[in-house]
Amino acid sequence: MILEPRKREQIMPLPVALISTMSKDGVRNIAPWSNITPILRPYEEIVLASWIKRDTLINIRQTGEFVINIPPANLADAVMVCSKNYSPEVDEFLKAGLTPFPSKQIKVPGIEGCLAWAECKLVEEILREKYSLVIGQVVHLEVNASFFNEDGDMDFERARPLSVMLGNEQMWFTRPVFTGRKADYAEMFDK
Ligand SMILES: Cc1cc2nc3c(=O)[nH]c(=O)nc-3n(C[C@H](O)[C@H](O)[C@H](O)COP(=O)(O)O)c2cc1C
Repeated sequence: MILEPRKREQIMPLPVALISTMSKDGVRNIAPWSNITPILRPYEEIVLASWIKRDTLINIRQTGEFVINIPPANLADAVMVCSKNYSPEVDEFLKAGLTPFPSKQIKVPGIEGCLAWAECKLVEEILREKYSLVIGQVVHLEVNASFFNEDGDMDFERARPLSVMLGNEQMWFTRPVFTGRKADYAEMFDK
């Protein structure tokens, strides 16, 4: 079966992050983001893909700062509030009833109630015709200790980080569930 081009993103689950930014005038903005990934280990840089018409992109260009917040599944309603195309003067913390979580290295605040916060500074923008790739340096990364063990592993069954399957008519919010198979990293090497 061949999928039509606009249905291709259905082939795999995508993460749901909330990106918080601030305009140059100090208006706080939040937007959900799925096209986002660390650039290899150890999460020193990340890349996100943004359509051109995004307040998030404009704010990142203006201030050079953003926070990647990892929401738990119970923030799905707030995620959808922040997905609306409000005008740039709207404070999306107030709209979504979310509380700021103070950042340590940048001015833009994170979001209280999230599982992890990666404070980022803009490193490079790769501008294409309709979208832009934003590369950010993670300058501070903090996690909610109540969902992580002493080794720094997330208890994901309890933390319930949010992901999404983009269906034909609607988005299906999902979360990871353990399959029963674990693997040591050593298993990746032949010798
Ligand atoms: C689950 C989800 C994932 C999204 N991922 C992206 C994305 O990766 N890139 C993008 O440009 N927009 C994405 N969007 C759309 C933006 O979040 C949405 O257009 C939002 O209003 C942008 O807000 P802003 O203009 O304040 O930046 C996503 C929306 C949802 C609901």
